[in-house]
Amino acid sequence: MTRIGYQHPSADPVEITTTIPLGDYKPDTRMDIGAFIRDNGIKTVLELGTGSGSSAYYCALAGAKVITVDVFWYTRRNQGFIEEVEKGNITLVVASPDFPPLPTTLKFDLVFIDTSHILAQTELDVSFAKQYSPKWIGFDDASTAGVAPVIDKLCAEWGTSRVGIGWDIMAVKAP
Ligand SMILES: C[S@@+](CC[C@H](N)C(=O)[O-])C[C@H]1O[C@@H](n2cnc3c(N)ncnc32)[C@H](O)[C@@H]1O
Repeated sequence: MTRIGYQHPSADPVEITTTIPLGDYKPDTRMDIGAFIRDNGIKTVLELGTGSGSSAYYCALAGAKVITVDVFWYTRRNQGFIEEVEKGNITLVVASPDFPPLPTTLKFDLVFIDTSHILAQTELDVSFAKQYSPKWIGFDDASTAGVAPVIDKLCAEWGTSRVGIGWDIMAVKAP
């Protein structure tokens, strides 16, 4: 099943977990940030950019409750992701990229950003992320041109440094 979800900014996020089809795809092990999740006691994760569901799967496997957001509905989610959805550890939300995807009264220990890697979008994603009072903001593809300057700016603003949590995956701790 292929499905694209749209969300009006004033509408509630669309939760479509019940329509996830069975998948037989393997998770991408590069996205295993489970050690970081466990070592830092991270219990709640908001992910921007679900993709195949690999990072969300590894966060859930490490014991976090994950809400993951994408702008499109894909069929290619990995099997582990689907199982964690079925267990209630992952919730998938399809939302517009232009607005905070969830009510900003919610709080998350980690907001993990892995969207388009376009500079303006990464900056927007960080502005959304901050509204959820995160203890950490994480970034995949941290060395890329659309992500690295945003990490630099955030570190300068928060007066903190980045830590490597995976292959080209960085996290910045909130002050
Ligand atoms: C590199 S993939 C994410 C990979 C994923 N973290 C994984 O482990 O499989 C990028 C995803 O971000 C989604 N995306 C792009 N712009 C977005 C945005 N502004 N908000 C949410 N998702 C976005 C794309 O549709 C795509 O599925």
